[in-house]
Amino acid sequence: MKIAIDGPGGAGKSTVAKLLAKRLGMTYIDTGAMYRAVALAVARRGIGAGDAEAVIAELDSIHIDISHESDTGEQIVRLGGEDVSAQIRTQAISIGASDVSKIREVRLRLVELQREIARGRDVIMDGRDIGTVVFPDADKKYFLTASPGVRARRRYLELRSKGDFAAYETCLSDLLARDSNDSGRAFAPLVAADDAVFVWTDRMTAREAVDAMYMDITDKGSEPIRSNGAAL
Ligand code: DC
Repeated sequence: MKIAIDGPGGAGKSTVAKLLAKRLGMTYIDTGAMYRAVALAVARRGIGAGDAEAVIAELDSIHIDISHESDTGEQIVRLGGEDVSAQIRTQAISIGASDVSKIREVRLRLVELQREIARGRDVIMDGRDIGTVVFPDADKKYFLTASPGVRARRRYLELRSKGDFAAYETCLSDLLARDSNDSGRAFAPLVAADDAVFVWTDRMTAREAVDAMYMDITDKGSEPIRSNGAAL
């Protein structure tokens, strides 16, 4: 079984996908972490994330490995064997990831890796193009979203909890820049698949979103999540 969760940054995709995977006994795969790992790799080599030619030239020597903690199911991202799961979570890397994700060759490489990791497993995968490109035949597709103000606030609180005291305004402007970067790129832009179910998380807790999706997946819901963009 393949479940695709797409949507913009700060919509709650990874929180929801992680909880849902645990509940369904599936493997959670965070594809944004892979774009972040490429961004970290090139930054360490002094290459600008927007310098497509230079990034492409490095691709063959960037080795990304994804594994999962056996007890918590937490995803571990390794770059050339080094655990970089924490280093890829900074604001600078968020922006770099969005930049490298515009490069076609980077996307082709990572989509291949994503399909390989998912082969023979039940997975919940989150990203921007999972329902449209990676698994167009996914069993279930969700598009999680929320208003920019709510998403920026979540990002602000998440960074704060990690000791990064970025201003709310900076979180909002970075998020809007990433939205336009991710939605405006020519190759595999962020867009909801035609058959995706919309989940608006503005006024939902992660638990509520997970409950609604769980009911939808297991067909236990008397009130299915509506796919016409209506809030739950
Ligand atoms: O989900 P995230 O914020 O960790 O993703 C970081 C960036 O990676 C995001 O701005 C766009 C890019 N990305 C992508 O283009 N396709 C994906 N499937 C996942 C992430």
